[in-house]
Amino acid sequence: MNKIPVWIDTDTGVDDAVALITATSLKELDIKGVSAVAGNTTIENAFRNARDVLSLAGREDIRVFKGSARPFIKELHIAPHVHGENGIGDVTIEPSNAPIEEKNAFDALYEKARELNGELTVIAVGPLTNIAATIIKHPDFVNYVKCLCIMGGAVEGGNITPCAEFNIYEDPHAAQCVFKSGIKVKMFGLDVTLKAYLSDDDIAEIISYNNKASRFFEGSNKLIYAVQERHNGNGLCEHDTCPIVYVAHPELFTGKPCGIYVETQGEITMGKTVADLYTDHKYEDRHCEAYIDINREEFVKIIKEAYRAY
Ligand code: RIB
Ligand code: CA
Repeated sequence: MNKIPVWIDTDTGVDDAVALITATSLKELDIKGVSAVAGNTTIENAFRNARDVLSLAGREDIRVFKGSARPFIKELHIAPHVHGENGIGDVTIEPSNAPIEEKNAFDALYEKARELNGELTVIAVGPLTNIAATIIKHPDFVNYVKCLCIMGGAVEGGNITPCAEFNIYEDPHAAQCVFKSGIKVKMFGLDVTLKAYLSDDDIAEIISYNNKASRFFEGSNKLIYAVQERHNGNGLCEHDTCPIVYVAHPELFTGKPCGIYVETQGEITMGKTVADLYTDHKYEDRHCEAYIDINREEFVKIIKEAYRAY
């Protein structure tokens, strides 16, 4: 099988950890690198958590690079009330023994994209600061990205304000830079990620596997279970795992072509991803896709298989 080369950019919080563990279980993916960005938690936590979760997954071979410690313009607002003080629900896991990478994320990501000559799929599951910074530092980066699959935004609704989703709201200026860059963006916003939930029964089954990964899942998800939006009051939305599973199994998702741009001026609408999906007033430049539906049963099976395998 020809594996799909991917790069994962993450603000390594609790659902990011599920995404990383699921990504390492998908035989369709060849993870070429991981970069950490501040968002759910500080850059130091995000960097350490990415390293340690990959180590738990037995993948210390995957190199992790440190990116931006803060958004372009807005102040950093981390979410310890959701992801804990350490970013992974205040659970402690074995530290990685992998060597610490000195190269910054922007150069590492650019060099890998160049090396793969346009075959690299980038998956961003945190604020888009690192992606935008790479574009600004290396303008021809946009020519070497096959597509950018993001967890972020929402055609309708929001979770950090009534109309903005956390990853975009955290750094709307970086997000606008990315959406205006010409890179093909596939947006897995709340429209689909709120449908991508593990039910209480699914959670109980994963915990019943009683292995190191499932114990980490149980401990790290205690806080987020109590505070984060849940589907009809139960379960856990696995936001960040959506773009990961999409790259390996696109048949499980429904998306529509559209133009998407970001509100960066509004007092009430700051960070809203404005997509021209449900209007006749289409943007001139429509190079994105917004994903709005998922085969949840198959999605959940993939996550369960990832955790059962430990
Ligand atoms: O809105 C959900 C997103 O915000 C996820 O990426 C989660 O990890 C947080 O970063
Ligand atoms: Ca995230």
